[in-house]
Formats: sequence, structure tokens, C-alpha cells
Amino acid sequence: MGRIIIVNGSPRAPKSNSKQYAALFKNYWQGEISEYDVTAKKHAEICGKLNAFDDLLLVFPLYTDGLPATLLQFLKELEKYPISYNPRVHAIINCGFMEPEQNQPALEMIKLFCRQHGHLFGSALCIGGGEAILTTPFVFFVKRNVKKLAKAIWLGKPTELRVTMPLSKKSFLKASKKYWIRYGEKHHVDIKQMETMKIEDEIE
Ligand SMILES: Cc1cc2nc3c(=O)[nH]c(=O)nc-3n(C[C@H](O)[C@H](O)[C@H](O)COP(=O)(O)O)c2cc1C
Repeated sequence: MGRIIIVNGSPRAPKSNSKQYAALFKNYWQGEISEYDVTAKKHAEICGKLNAFDDLLLVFPLYTDGLPATLLQFLKELEKYPISYNPRVHAIINCGFMEPEQNQPALEMIKLFCRQHGHLFGSALCIGGGEAILTTPFVFFVKRNVKKLAKAIWLGKPTELRVTMPLSKKSFLKASKKYWIRYGEKHHVDIKQMETMKIEDEIE
């Protein structure tokens, strides 16, 4: 009892915000924990071992209102494995926008996957402002909710939680604009350059 595997579905898994949310979760889990980053691309090996776990926690970012391709590849592999009620699936989803409900379509996709493939879905935590909240004084809101999630999973009492920063949209936009301008400056990119579609290309 209490064996959980945390699967980080972020394309930037080793440096991701998802990794930090997984690290918070580990503080509150009393049982045995294994971790897997989808960027390691050992999906078959991991899917083959999943039955040994009681719970599977998917931790991933929202990408274009859906699941990142890296996580989809993992789920595609999981489809090949025989239906089993072990482990129960849970999710922590974080997005850049401040509204945690932005994550709802991605959560529904995970639930649909579970229904279609015979996995039981358990609990979820949707985080808004996921790129920023960890470095603000509001981080304790996240910690409190991650703790609640861990307890719900541990007790087998499904729950759905949402958390974000207690800011008005106007203050959030102002603060995030300031953050990205500073970030650009650090990398020698100014606001005009950031506003072009060529931002991914090499800027002269
Ligand atoms: C390609 C891409 C698409 C994204 N799409 C959304 C989106 O639709 N809505 C949103 O709120 N945030 C979006 N984001 C922001 C990420 O969800 C956010 O930066 C998150 O904290 C990244 O988590 P990670 O570090 O675990 O990968 C997107 C980011 C990228 C790079």
C-alpha cells in the first residue's frame, strides 16, 4: 500500500515547473515513491512495471489548452498494456494563465483516456499561474493544496482542487509583463523583438 509513481510529462522535465510541483508532493507522501520523466523515453519499460504501483500521478503543463506531445507519447504507449485497475491515475496540471480552470479540458482528456482504457481516475489539482506562483509569497497556497491532494490520494477519497494567486487579472498582467521584459533583458531581447513572430529565430 502507498506505492506511487510520479510521471513528469513536461517536455522540459528536468528543469520544469512540473518537477518542482512533484518535489512538493514528495514532501507530503508517506509511502514509497518512484519517479519517471517522459523525456527519458523509456515508456515501454515503465508501462510494463505500472501494475506494481497503487497510484500513478501525472504532473504536466498545459500546452495549447491540451496535453503536451511528450505526455501523449507516453499515453500512446500505455494504451498497449492490458487493462488493469492498478494503479489509480491522478493529475497535477499547471498552466501559465492565472485561471486554474484553463486546465479543465486537459483534465477531461486524462479522464477520457482512463475511461476508454479501463483505468480508474482519482484526484486532481489544477494550478493557475503555474509559471510564477512558486517564486511568490503565494507559494503557501500551492503547498496547502498539494498537501490536500496527497492526503486525498492516500485515503483513496477522490477530490478535485484548484489553486492560483489571489490577484486581480489586471495586477497579474502587469506583474507578468514586467517579469517577461526583465527576462528578455537578461537574454538581450527587447520588447519589440519579443512582439515579433520571429522570436524563435535567431535575432540579429
Ligand atoms: C508551447 C506552449 C504552449 C502553452 N500553452 C498554454 C496554454 O494553452 N494555456 C496556458 O495557460 N499556458 C500555456 N503554456 C504555459 C505553460 O503551461 C507554463 O509555462 C507551465 O508552467 C510550464 O510547465 P513546465 O515547466 O512543467 O513545462 C504553454 C507553454 C508552452 C511552451
